[in-house]
Amino acid sequence: MLQKCRWKSLVGKFIGIGVGPGDPELITVKAVKTLKTVDVIAVPKTHADAPSIALSLIKHILEERAKPAEVLELVFPMTKNESEAKKCWAESARLIAEKAESGKTIAFITLGDPFFYSTFIYLFQTLKQKYPHVTMEIIPGVTSLTACAARAQVPLAEKDEVIAIIPSDIDFKLIEETAEHADNIVFMKCAHRFKALMPILEKSGFTKNATVALVRRCGMSDEAVIIGRLGDVPEWNIPEDYFSMAIVKRSEFPINREKEDLL
Ligand SMILES: C[S@@+](CC[C@H](N)C(=O)[O-])C[C@H]1O[C@@H](n2cnc3c(N)ncnc32)[C@H](O)[C@@H]1O
Repeated sequence: MLQKCRWKSLVGKFIGIGVGPGDPELITVKAVKTLKTVDVIAVPKTHADAPSIALSLIKHILEERAKPAEVLELVFPMTKNESEAKKCWAESARLIAEKAESGKTIAFITLGDPFFYSTFIYLFQTLKQKYPHVTMEIIPGVTSLTACAARAQVPLAEKDEVIAIIPSDIDFKLIEETAEHADNIVFMKCAHRFKALMPILEKSGFTKNATVALVRRCGMSDEAVIIGRLGDVPEWNIPEDYFSMAIVKRSEFPINREKEDLL
């Protein structure tokens, strides 16, 4: 037992770090301190040649390090094939455990927060199951949710309001049922489907005067924000962009109409 404990204390740590939604300044002091001292920075990518937005957000922090960190690229292809995805998580978990077992501390960087719709969650679960001797820590990040609300100046919830967070790709019926019970809704991954959601929102009792803010690439150099009423949405130009989020409020919240062309 003593030997096991001693060995465990020699094993490094795996830390999930939220690096914020896109503005390099929206990162916690704790994340910055940790990124300056860890041995390895694990960078998730959708394919080997894809650039990493998360890595670009911490470039200035890594440049201040006394000694460069080892960068470990982990590929997680966007797939709905569960067994293919599991294979990737297992392989990444193995690589991380190997580094930790050699005494290294590894930081996995993720956009926004690690426990809010992030690949980090699958890796965390896989490591927990297969390599329980690796200690894990999570450093929360500013989510796209709170950053988009702040940028649009549209509050997410107040008093006894109920807020729903909906990934836009789910079944329309489920969206309708959820919307019926919500005062405010945040639609994730919504650009391609947002206009198609309007009749559902109207069926769920949202009027044409409901407040809508659509934020694309919040905090990034090509950020765009459009704010108005539900009745305006059919006229909006909404290009497909993965980094898009909509906030819809039942109430007619006072807004500064900011009608930028989203293109
Ligand atoms: C897989 S989730 C990642 C969420 C992230 N972990 C967080 O805490 O914000 C990706 C979705 O988050 C939203 N998102 C993430 N970053 C964003 C940004 N900078 N601007 C607008 N939406 C963003 C979009 O709806 C996108 O489709």
